[in-house]
Amino acid sequence: MCIGKWKLVVVCLAAEHVASQPWPKSGGSSDSVKVKWIGDKPVLNPGTTFGLPWPRGRHAANKTSFSASAGNEAVRIQSWVTSYWPDGSIKWTGHAVEPSTDVPDEYVIVTSSSCQKTAKRASEDVSVRSNGDTITVDTGKVSVVFAKAGNILVKSISTGGKIVGQNGVLVLRTQTDTDDGSDIPRIFDRLQFEASIDETKVENQGSVRALVTVKGKHAVKQSNTGQDPWLPFTVRFYLYSGSEAIRVVHSLVYDGKPDKDFITAIGLRFDVPLGDEQLYNRHIRIAGVDGGFLTESVQGITGLRRDPGAGVRKAQIGGKTLPDVATWDRNFTTRLQWIPAFNDYSLSQLSPDGFTLKKRTKAGQSWINIPAGNRSSGLAYLGGSTKGGLAIGLRDFWKKYPTGFSISNAASRTVSTATLWLYSPEAPPMDLRPWHDEMGQDTYAKQLEALDTTYEDYEPGFMTPYGVARTSEVYIIGFPSTPSAETLGKWTKIIEEPPALATEPEVLYKSKAAGVLWAPRTETSGSAATLESHLDFLAKFYRDQVENRRWYGFWDHGDFMHTYDASRHTWAYDVGGYAWDNGELSPDLFFWPQFLRTGDASVYRFAEAVARHGSEVDQYHVGPWKGLGTRHGVQHWGDSAKQVRISTPIFRKVFYYLTGGDERQGEIIREVLDADQAILQVDPRRKVRDPNITYVPDPEALYISLGTDWSGLAAALLIEWETRGPRWEEARSKLISSMRGLNALKNGFITGEVFYNSKTGLISPPPDDPDNKGSVTISHLSASFGESEVVTELINHIGANDTDASTFEKNWLDYCYYYGASKAEQAARYGTSFSGISLRQGHSKLTALAANRDGGNATIAARAWKEFFSTDGLAPTAPWVSVPISGNHSIVLVPVEEASWISTNEAAQYGGAVIENMYLLGSPP
Ligand SMILES: *[C@@H]1O[C@H](CO)[C@@H](O)[C@H](O)[C@H]1NC(C)=O
Ligand SMILES: *[C@@H]1O[C@H](CO)[C@@H](O)[C@H](O)[C@H]1NC(C)=O
Ligand SMILES: *[C@@H]1O[C@H](CO)[C@@H](O)[C@H](O)[C@H]1NC(C)=O
Ligand SMILES: *[C@@H]1O[C@H](CO)[C@@H](O)[C@H](O)[C@H]1NC(C)=O
Ligand SMILES: *[C@@H]1O[C@H](CO)[C@@H](O)[C@H](O)[C@H]1NC(C)=O
Ligand SMILES: *[C@@H]1O[C@H](CO)[C@@H](O)[C@H](O)[C@H]1NC(C)=O
Ligand SMILES: *[C@@H]1O[C@H](CO)[C@@H](O)[C@H](O)[C@H]1NC(C)=O
Repeated sequence: MCIGKWKLVVVCLAAEHVASQPWPKSGGSSDSVKVKWIGDKPVLNPGTTFGLPWPRGRHAANKTSFSASAGNEAVRIQSWVTSYWPDGSIKWTGHAVEPSTDVPDEYVIVTSSSCQKTAKRASEDVSVRSNGDTITVDTGKVSVVFAKAGNILVKSISTGGKIVGQNGVLVLRTQTDTDDGSDIPRIFDRLQFEASIDETKVENQGSVRALVTVKGKHAVKQSNTGQDPWLPFTVRFYLYSGSEAIRVVHSLVYDGKPDKDFITAIGLRFDVPLGDEQLYNRHIRIAGVDGGFLTESVQGITGLRRDPGAGVRKAQIGGKTLPDVATWDRNFTTRLQWIPAFNDYSLSQLSPDGFTLKKRTKAGQSWINIPAGNRSSGLAYLGGSTKGGLAIGLRDFWKKYPTGFSISNAASRTVSTATLWLYSPEAPPMDLRPWHDEMGQDTYAKQLEALDTTYEDYEPGFMTPYGVARTSEVYIIGFPSTPSAETLGKWTKIIEEPPALATEPEVLYKSKAAGVLWAPRTETSGSAATLESHLDFLAKFYRDQVENRRWYGFWDHGDFMHTYDASRHTWAYDVGGYAWDNGELSPDLFFWPQFLRTGDASVYRFAEAVARHGSEVDQYHVGPWKGLGTRHGVQHWGDSAKQVRISTPIFRKVFYYLTGGDERQGEIIREVLDADQAILQVDPRRKVRDPNITYVPDPEALYISLGTDWSGLAAALLIEWETRGPRWEEARSKLISSMRGLNALKNGFITGEVFYNSKTGLISPPPDDPDNKGSVTISHLSASFGESEVVTELINHIGANDTDASTFEKNWLDYCYYYGASKAEQAARYGTSFSGISLRQGHSKLTALAANRDGGNATIAARAWKEFFSTDGLAPTAPWVSVPISGNHSIVLVPVEEASWISTNEAAQYGGAVIENMYLLGSPP
């Protein structure tokens, strides 16, 4: 088989003709596409995985192979299919390209239908061996032994014939209560946990890349605590042939009781066996600022009253083995025992603005402070010049504070350890309790009144983090000897911004596999250029606000805020529903298409952090609400609106495919497949239903909104279908039933709220219209969470020639046309005009779609631009600049940049509307 689960070895085609245009209309079954680094070319390529889109019908899934080249050199690549068109042709592929130190500017990927079935293993291939208890992966540079059970995830890491790391474990500490700032200390237990592995498996294996996934829970170490294993983890280890680095994706789900389980530390720890390495040949490197390192030896021989000699000093600072002591100044060597050895080192990044460092000779002796800095690049190395050692690094280290490193027993002949803290033990315990005490909101009526005041939708029991998750990206690098500062400096760059590859906007666009409502940015002038500049302004403004407002932290990094309080010159971080945005009004549907059409690296990196945050922290992964997200609020999980509109995979679909099918994203998207089961637990409209309608949630008649519920479910089902996941046939059948059911509704999408059969996907008339006489329920939110994008992608996937799909499209275009039509037109068509129309600027993209599909109808197009420019939202006459507010004798805490005319709802909707309108209508008038 050419492509699929096992692997592809293609020995060919570097010299194949490179077509200048992708996918010429006729002929050739061979395509070549360029992939380029997102942003600057990285200092090294540790092995990179990326995705490529392909047009319908172009390449048969089982008859296509891929090869890669850079310059005139063939490059080893491993390929797999991540998504299929309904005809079985390839929609998206994933590719892993081999590591390199001499990094090319771009790669060319060439398809071939003359598949060469050379299943022979090449000597450079990553090798994976499984025996009873372990899985061993050898990249040629490092060999890593994973355990299949027990508490140790990584038994050993070897390089150059030496074991440089052992006993890789997870560290978790908790306490059962907190002093809560009280003067009277409370008595509580402190607990220590270790991993209890449920499963270790090879999730993906090929010639270039192997992925070993370890799943389990954290089990308490002390006996008689009665504490069950908790905090499920999934740790993925990616290894590329020829690389000394292991990329680790560490995901943790919180399933504790916030008032009893206070996490005090989360870490990853490795032993580094230094054996008989001389103390003066043992090295500590901890990353500081801008590629700088704390550069120390366990026993430092510099700066003393006696000098061992310049050569000796230079060697120690360079991490080299010191010359034979016999060659040093004798007065020095006879006194070595008076030079202290430092066993322990620690760096704590407890805020995004500062880290502190300290060291001590050993436990029981005082720490001494080491001069500190502001933002550590997040890497630490422990090792020896002859024994080698390990570097461990965390992406977004200071952005995800409180973080840290500990090096312990560095002078030991038995066990020296290096610990990366994803949550620093030096920080106060993680406090996940509700931020207020309910304030007497014990009825729906009171909750609705409070909602109308603080915009927080509160309900007792719903302000809970039970089921939210966080993912951290870690690199572990094995070195046979202490690396130079330059080498470690390169790795900090990789860790801070892991290399990513993507093809060009034109290729993404022409494939029609990455959404069908955007086109590549072109040179523009006049009003089109103004709109483009507004998109750039908004993207940059949010990026800069993250830094200006310090939107960082373990749970917060990747989010931004919802509404600005101009009186205080601050975002309303403490005002109910105005605080964290949690994807409100779909900023992702601005950022991802903006990246696709521009290739702008800063947009990609921002959208990536937002995607990770939104999919992990704003969504539930276990428990009764698994698959649902939480509406915006002061705490990411605080609001009682638990809905698919927040967890909708349409927000993260581009990210998933561009990364070649990021396994963690795939897992999260699949959780949404069963979000209908969660809706059974928590009726989204329970507080606002017409009391005259009796409704009891029922799996065969779930009363849901087409826009905020069904379209999120449909996004998950469509991805399952495209990826041919385990339930793809069920997913396809449900989507087709939904379409047919909706097509049979008298008022189509205008019905708004419908019955949905969670077993079959069938849509049927709502309870207030059992006889399908025609129900009209309009909400400004329906199309504000990706409904149009999901519907158009579904139609595009099936093909508008399909009868169900073409009727479905007609129905959608009716919604698009009538939402913003005149009251008279609405009444003429539906017997009643619509109430509750707002967000008209955002909805102009629907009008634009109606115009476009009506052959570019100029009347409708003009209406779309009018809605865009002169109804609500961000006006052309807005300032379109931010202004500085000085901290000098003013009410602001620090100098800030503000644009008080911006709200995130409007910015998100504006961005999506500009992109879609310009694609559908061309330049604005
Ligand atoms: C290849 O694809 C065709 C069409 O999708 C299918 O009929 C055939 O069974 C496939 N062959 C293999 C070996 O998968
Ligand atoms: C070594 O120490 C002795 C005694 O303190 C001193 O006389 C001698 O000069 C020293 N040698 C050197 C090379 O410093
Ligand atoms: C961090 O410190 C470095 C120098 O140590 C300085 O150049 C940089 O501007 C500082 N960054 C911030 C955000 O203060
Ligand atoms: C419920 O029904 C009563 C009696 O028919 C009616 O007066 C009332 O307006 C209805 N309430 C709503 C919210 O429709
Ligand atoms: C749809 O039908 C038209 C007219 O029959 C045809 O030209 C076109 O290729 C068809 N498109 C697809 C995707 O099948
Ligand atoms: C454009 O759309 C309007 C409104 O639906 C319609 O009245 C008109 O006939 C259309 N114009 C053309 C040329 O199709
Ligand atoms: C602060 O304000 C005073 C007077 O209002 C002004 O003289 C001074 O230059 C300001 N300082 C800065 C740093 O802006």
